[in-house]
Amino acid sequence: MSKKIYQKPTINYINFAMASKYGSPLQTQKVRTEIDGVQISELTEKFGSPIFVFSEKTIEEKYHALHNAFSSRYNDVEFSWSYKTNYLNEICKIFHKLGSTAEVVSEFEYQKARANGVEGKDIIFNGPYKPKADLKIAVQEGAKIHVDNLFELNDLEEIADELNVKIPVAIRINMDTGVYPAWSRFGFNFESGEAYDAIKRMYDGGKVYLVGLHSHIGTFMLDANPYYMATKAIMHLKAQVENDFNAEIAYIDLGGGFASKSNLKGIYQSADVIVPTPDAYAEAITNAIYEFNKSEKLPKLYLETGRHLIDEAGFLLTSVWGYKRFGDGKKGYILDAGVNVLYTSTWYNFNIELDKRYEGENEPSMLNGPLCMNIDIIEEHIMLPPLDRGSVITISPVGAYNYTQAMQFIRYKPAVVLIDKDSNAKLIKEVDDLSTVNHKES
Ligand SMILES: Cc1ncc(COP(=O)(O)O)c(C=O)c1O
Repeated sequence: MSKKIYQKPTINYINFAMASKYGSPLQTQKVRTEIDGVQISELTEKFGSPIFVFSEKTIEEKYHALHNAFSSRYNDVEFSWSYKTNYLNEICKIFHKLGSTAEVVSEFEYQKARANGVEGKDIIFNGPYKPKADLKIAVQEGAKIHVDNLFELNDLEEIADELNVKIPVAIRINMDTGVYPAWSRFGFNFESGEAYDAIKRMYDGGKVYLVGLHSHIGTFMLDANPYYMATKAIMHLKAQVENDFNAEIAYIDLGGGFASKSNLKGIYQSADVIVPTPDAYAEAITNAIYEFNKSEKLPKLYLETGRHLIDEAGFLLTSVWGYKRFGDGKKGYILDAGVNVLYTSTWYNFNIELDKRYEGENEPSMLNGPLCMNIDIIEEHIMLPPLDRGSVITISPVGAYNYTQAMQFIRYKPAVVLIDKDSNAKLIKEVDDLSTVNHKES
């Protein structure tokens, strides 16, 4: 029998009112021993800790569920992978293989998409800041330019002169969909007539012409109806522009923003209850197209969904480095990953799963990262059994906006592993080192 390690006894206040029909918080433990058939222990032994792990199987399941919801209602639909949500090359390539084109918001995302084999014509170039040199390359390569502001329109007109061409463009529209605060910073407003005026200004100039209308109303939208409202506004504007300027709007783009099954802080119902289904989002958008279409031909429909498709496919494996007892009796664990790699911890209550069942009763604990900063808190209050150095915790869902927003701060950015459909785990990004940090520094 192994010798038990002595620990100084403490008295902790435990709120028994937290017990529910699911059991007592003293006993409940969430355990995860594997991801897609690959043992957690094997992953950390082989690739180290912390590591991000992505599941190709989950990506495909999410993709097919959402794509089927739209394509079963609407013939001409195309998904455009939102690079900012996760631009790890191997992840982008899975989406491209499934049929997604690319949606980018900067020159380096554009360059990444091109390097990943996407042709210019299959890239949607969004965003409020498109330097003229990058815009010109995108125009020359036939990318879909979604105009955000009048400065950009002027640049495009100059580019049209320089290249001696007329440029097809789309325009981003913002509107009141009943969700506040509205994302009114981007594009041109529908209700005030600003969007119509910008289009008129395009036709007065005669150097660009309109082929598409775009909106992206927000992110983590917990109601499908705002998409109905946005599509309705776009279809109204489409009819007006086609009538007034003899334009042919070949496509509309309803952006992204569909929620993932993550638990937002401050919302007490589970994500399974409050997150709209793929069918609900698809119904809202396609119903509005059919209801408000005034043209003979229905427009092509683009969607730039990111979070909904990738969040649940991503996991972070992190190990306990040590623990201590705070003055209030709470146990504080030091993990090897913190807010440096989990940007979304500000908004989400993650699933926290243990690598095995631990002996001992749960007690109030806090999960802290490795940063020497007070803000480095992953979970402020969580009931956990006694964990030890080396215990591995799986945190999910973390597939969206965490790797791309991870900070190179105090710790190196972790490695990333992809588990393919045959349960092979392969390294798709090495852990950073000093050369990554010092690169291009004198
Ligand atoms: C223009 C545009 N399209 C698509 C997306 C992807 O959004 P999500 O990841 O919430 O689906 C974003 C994210 O902010 C965006 O700004």
